[in-house]
Amino acid sequence: METVVSGIRPTGNLHLGNYFGALRNFISMQNEHNCYFFIADYHSLTTHPTPGDLHGNVRQVMVEYLAAGLDPEKCTLYVQSDVPETAEMYLFLNMNAYIGELERCTSFKDKIRQQPQNVNAGLLTYPTLMAADIILHKATKVPVGKDQEQHLEMTRQFSNRFNRMYNVEYFPEPQAFNFGNELVKIPGLNGSGKMGKSEGEGNAIFLADEPEAIRKKVMKAVTDSGPTEPNQAKPEAIQNIFQLMKVVSAPDTLSFFEEQYNTCKIRYGDMKKQLAVDMISFTEPFRDKIKAISADEAYVSRVARIGKEKAQESASKTIREVREIIGFKRF
Ligand code: TYM
Repeated sequence: METVVSGIRPTGNLHLGNYFGALRNFISMQNEHNCYFFIADYHSLTTHPTPGDLHGNVRQVMVEYLAAGLDPEKCTLYVQSDVPETAEMYLFLNMNAYIGELERCTSFKDKIRQQPQNVNAGLLTYPTLMAADIILHKATKVPVGKDQEQHLEMTRQFSNRFNRMYNVEYFPEPQAFNFGNELVKIPGLNGSGKMGKSEGEGNAIFLADEPEAIRKKVMKAVTDSGPTEPNQAKPEAIQNIFQLMKVVSAPDTLSFFEEQYNTCKIRYGDMKKQLAVDMISFTEPFRDKIKAISADEAYVSRVARIGKEKAQESASKTIREVREIIGFKRF
């Protein structure tokens, strides 16, 4: 049995990228492994959310975790800030993380571009906070999308460094995970390489989206005037539509449109109509459950309370042992 840790930032509703990159793995892993899934609210502070929005966003991710099929009886579901041991681990790791390696991190460089007015120290040390989440439970597997690969490399670096510095074999080496295969990157609808909330209007399809909203976004997806030669290579925006169809549609639907493309008969309007229908039916079971669970205030609170207790049990044991390794002693 592996120990599994992963989290999602509470920046709004979960989208299909979160689902196929992470959540789908969470759901299957909870049956076999010792799993800790959390809502990364400390991480979300790097973008300065409004205090009035923070709790609602955290709660929404909790509701969507549950609606997607995470079972609090099988796994530990918790809110990152409910486990302040995370912050202590983060402090310890920051002492052994070097500015140069943090500055070289791709996600930091991207953020500098996205929010030049707010390049805070939390952004720089984002990878050490993420490493703290992971090693706090001594995880060996971390289900994430492709965009998190470098953060996992850094986590291994930090945990190996800790072991070397203190001459212990304490932290295992955590590996990024996606059903034992390659990590995935789900593309967006507006020609952008990645589906994401901050990638522009209309780019992401959310699990909670109403059918009409999905139809509108899909019909607006970027395409071109179509192939002019048989078996032509697909430009990026077209590849994106095919890739989205691959994850939500039946295999014969996908091969029908592949064939249409390869013989230059494709009508993107028809393809997008079909993609919208398949996305609507894919998200339908989530939509209804999200509404039902969200209305059950007592249940959501109970899940968060139990999760906090279970996560703290594991986290406090690690922190106790780490303090001892570092050399802190009680008077
Ligand atoms: P976040 O909140 O940006 O995304 C949550 C998860 O969804 C995946 N994901 C995608 N996968 C494929 N295609 C996409 N278009 C796509 N968009 C998002 C992400 O890879 C991620 O797995 N730093 C993390 C949260 C975090 C974490 C952790 C994860 C904090 N601590 C510890 C694992 C372990 C983040 O910002 O993910």
